[in-house]
Amino acid sequence: MPVIDSKPGALARSDWWRDAVIYQIYPRSFADSDGDGVGDLPGAIARLDHLRDLGVDAVWLSPFYPSPQYDAGYDVADYCAVDPLFGTLADADRLINEAHARGLRILVDLVPNHTSDEHVWFRAAIAAAEGTPERARYLFREGRGPGGDAPPNNWLSVFGGPAWTRITRPDGTPGQWYLHLFDPHQPDLDWTNPEVHEEFRRVLRFWLDRGVDGFRVDVSHGMRKAPGLPDWDASPNGLVQENAAGQRPPMWDQDEVHEIIREWHELLATYGEDRILCAEAWVAPPERLALYVRPDEMQQAFNFEYLKAPWNAAHLRSIITESSSAMAAVGAPPTWVLSNHDVVRHVSRLGLPDGVSGDGGIGVGDVQPDRELGLRRGRAATLQVLALPGVAYVYQGEEFGLPEHTELPDDVRQDPTYARSGGVERGRDGCRVPIAWEAHLPTYGFSSGGRSWLPQPTDWAPYAADAQRGVPDSTYEMYRSALALRREHALGGGTIEHLDGYTDDVVAFRNGAVTVVTTVGDTAAALPAGARVLLASGPLDGDKVPADTTVWFIS
Ligand code: GLC
Ligand code: MG
Repeated sequence: MPVIDSKPGALARSDWWRDAVIYQIYPRSFADSDGDGVGDLPGAIARLDHLRDLGVDAVWLSPFYPSPQYDAGYDVADYCAVDPLFGTLADADRLINEAHARGLRILVDLVPNHTSDEHVWFRAAIAAAEGTPERARYLFREGRGPGGDAPPNNWLSVFGGPAWTRITRPDGTPGQWYLHLFDPHQPDLDWTNPEVHEEFRRVLRFWLDRGVDGFRVDVSHGMRKAPGLPDWDASPNGLVQENAAGQRPPMWDQDEVHEIIREWHELLATYGEDRILCAEAWVAPPERLALYVRPDEMQQAFNFEYLKAPWNAAHLRSIITESSSAMAAVGAPPTWVLSNHDVVRHVSRLGLPDGVSGDGGIGVGDVQPDRELGLRRGRAATLQVLALPGVAYVYQGEEFGLPEHTELPDDVRQDPTYARSGGVERGRDGCRVPIAWEAHLPTYGFSSGGRSWLPQPTDWAPYAADAQRGVPDSTYEMYRSALALRREHALGGGTIEHLDGYTDDVVAFRNGAVTVVTTVGDTAAALPAGARVLLASGPLDGDKVPADTTVWFIS
């Protein structure tokens, strides 16, 4: 039974996570209070009222832990502290309390697949000899071939290049190789080692004791590797699934990851049923993803199928149906995600021509998105997912229709994928550019010092918060109305019924009293007689819903 008491907002319900709208703060690009050009926790605290007014239920913060920042903080050197770049532990405490005071839950990022190479454990590992307990926390192996000069297997890093790096012994001779599925500065932990389990239980308790409501779990599908680390010929990018021969990649989605998740579920349960885990697991099909959210595992898993889908009605309909039923089969809510810090922002992605995915980022000289088309489709996609039962994730800036920065000069790029792919992939910097708050201030009000760690485009004034607040057709007011109506009509906790009677390129469903129609193709749809429109993603033409528009109505 959910516990109801007098706390504000999402804090009042222990099952808040079944229908929540969760806002992702990417701290370095949200709000900079100390003027160094990098967003920080005090900056985020100062903008919490914006999130309360927007009407979200919870906030997920990307990592703010001490880190050499080779992968924007996803290379953690100390899991139980705050990097001075972002503030202090006292700031983190204040953020948690200030969020709670506004009825907002707080999720923090847990990065358990790998540490930074500056973590004390990794430093001890390279200082220690082969075969010691210090080495056994990571995946060190002897090289293959004469002199052990070749990597232990043929795995590739997600960021490009081999997934192995060889260390040098203190005496200068070449030593063992260690595995890193990501950057060489991100050595993978060995999750068969009980010491690793124990350490992460300590980390979970550390943050739970400080009052966080849960964790977004980075690379959840990578923590265990197949015994013997066998060769694998395919590249590890994209949604991981079986190959034609029915084999799963030996580094992803191994059944043993679920043992770790069950252990954490039990630990969180001792804090109450309102503490949650959300899986970042790039796995397909939805039935495989559903394993991560069985009743004794995590509460949510990001649904990347929708995010990866082309703008095609049949496709979207089947993803909605299949993800919802796969999750229902295990009693978990589906989630809907359009943008995050790893993918091209959806208003830009959806403005690319058919067949151009934008995967890998967009830069000068690449096919550029059609900004107007992308925004129209992006707003339509947003209103579609916000009307679906389940959980919706919103990435900072999308509430202003903020586009990807698609023309960043290559020499300012910081995402390691850019360098490691030899520039073949532009990387993820374009979606990480600091967001805009005040149209007429330097850095659009992002930084009190007028600096920004990545340059912002010169034409972002219309995407600033103060340019859109109170402006009826702005993207911000559309989000705000959608969240209020979603709550009023309990759409997050509803069930949907797909509606017939529309052409094939329309997605139409009813969720309780509300009918939702999206025109995904070129053809307009007609509203039924007497329809009372609650909200639309773009202008309607009398009773016609023009192409690339979502409308919510009561009939
Ligand atoms: C996740 C994060 C991404 C990071 C990677 C390695 O996919 O979202 O930003 O680079 O894990 O930690
Ligand atoms: Mg700062």
